[in-house]
Amino acid sequence: MRNPAVLTSVLVVAVAAVPAVRAGYASVPVPETLELNVQANHPDTAGLPKDTKAVPEFSHRRHAEEYLKGRQTFSRFPYEDSFTCAACHHTAQAPEQAGSCLSCKDADRMFAAVGGPGKVKNLFHEVCRTCHKAAAKAGAAEPPTRCSGCHR
Ligand code: HEC
Ligand code: HEC
Ligand code: HEC
Repeated sequence: MRNPAVLTSVLVVAVAAVPAVRAGYASVPVPETLELNVQANHPDTAGLPKDTKAVPEFSHRRHAEEYLKGRQTFSRFPYEDSFTCAACHHTAQAPEQAGSCLSCKDADRMFAAVGGPGKVKNLFHEVCRTCHKAAAKAGAAEPPTRCSGCHR
């Protein structure tokens, strides 16, 4: 079950994170594409669900530098055009702090918010699908909303 109190505290951290200093944005390497497969990428994380899905060639940098610009209203987590990283890396207060969600110090809290590591898909779906569905519904863009659009 989702714990609203924990979820709220994650959100509060995210809100507090937005006005933070963003020195060094240009100096932080933003990987161009990523293979999103939590089981393969995080073999030491206990309690993850069975690996049945992945998102190959996730266009990470295009999201950060292009797709998210001006799309704040569709996002589950607040961000600014000058710091789009926060939409997904929502506990990061600066680009240098963006990285693997599952090995960051807030991972336990994020897991608790979505119902444990076994429900990790809820975490990703909440971040990714919330925006895609809202943007598609508003006709603002055509991001994939069907399973096969991400899980190719
Ligand atoms: C906007 C992109 C997106 C869409 C659309 C989407 N997913 Fe996912 N899903 C993800 C991401 C990202 C993950 C976490 C990465 C991974 O697969 O390991 C994930 C994880 C999962 C997992 C956890 C298992 C695993 O191997 O990690 C399941 C099950 C799953 N999705 C099913 C679905 C189904 C069913 C649908 C359609 C109803 C769907 N997804 C639509 C992005 C998406
Ligand atoms: C649309 C969502 C999204 C945005 C926007 C985003 N990222 Fe990511 N990023 C991810 C996901 C998902 C992962 C993989 C997390 C995992 O495996 O635990 C990731 C991983 C990373 C990694 C680790 C890469 C690796 O090889 O393990 C770095 C570094 C990173 N992001 C930096 C950034 C920076 C800096 C920004 C802003 C300029 C940014 N990201 C914006 C979703 C995003
Ligand atoms: C705040 C909004 C937002 C978030 C968060 C977001 N996306 Fe997207 N995504 C978009 C938009 C907008 C497009 C479509 C851009 C276009 O086609 O004009 C898109 C396109 C895509 C596409 C198809 C085009 C391509 O470049 O491959 C995939 C796959 C995708 N997103 C996966 C993901 C995954 C996985 C996550 C979470 C890790 C995610 N997105 C998070 C807004 C978002």
